[in-house]
Amino acid sequence: YGDPSQKIDYVFKVVLIGDSAVGKSQILARFARNEFSLDSKATIGVEFQTRTLVIEHKSVKAQIWDTAGQERYRAVTSAYYRGAVGAMLVYDITKHQTFDHIPRWLEELRGHADKNIVIILIGNKSDLENQRAVPTEDAKEFAQKEGLFFLETSALEATNVETAFLTVLTEIF
Ligand code: GTP
Ligand code: MG
Repeated sequence: YGDPSQKIDYVFKVVLIGDSAVGKSQILARFARNEFSLDSKATIGVEFQTRTLVIEHKSVKAQIWDTAGQERYRAVTSAYYRGAVGAMLVYDITKHQTFDHIPRWLEELRGHADKNIVIILIGNKSDLENQRAVPTEDAKEFAQKEGLFFLETSALEATNVETAFLTVLTEIF
């Protein structure tokens, strides 16, 4: 999880967006602290956490921003996206509605963020395969059409969380 004494070569801001309860905060907790909580509370406003990692022999401080999926708890949109070089667009593979809302999140993102921002679509809760409502192929097709990276993750089982962040951070690089 990084040596805090090392010098930082780059700071990359990455934002998490998507409907409430898809698991944004737990994806962040898994990445930043290797923690997971089943009774995670809805985020209010904006939070961020950092983790420093080495990519191609450079130390990169990833500053990951997390906000509320619920409209009434959301912070000022333009400030949230300002300076972001990466974005993780998250839905829950067991809740089709959260996937249906992805085009809206993408529109907001493209309306506010830098046009070169690296975006990954994430289908979270892959551990709940028996409750799957969104076929992997549908999401893959959507991602391809929109030019996004795509992965299914499980914050609970720590599946692909590291890979998802590394995909974005390496591409920004
Ligand atoms: P808001 O802050 O309201 O926008 O929600 P959020 O997207 O941050 O969701 P959060 O991370 O708080 O997770 C919501 C619920 O889903 C919690 O009960 C989590 O424990 C659970 N959860 C998150 N990730 C996973 C996962 O990979 N698998 C399973 N089974 N549950 C998960
Ligand atoms: Mg949250």
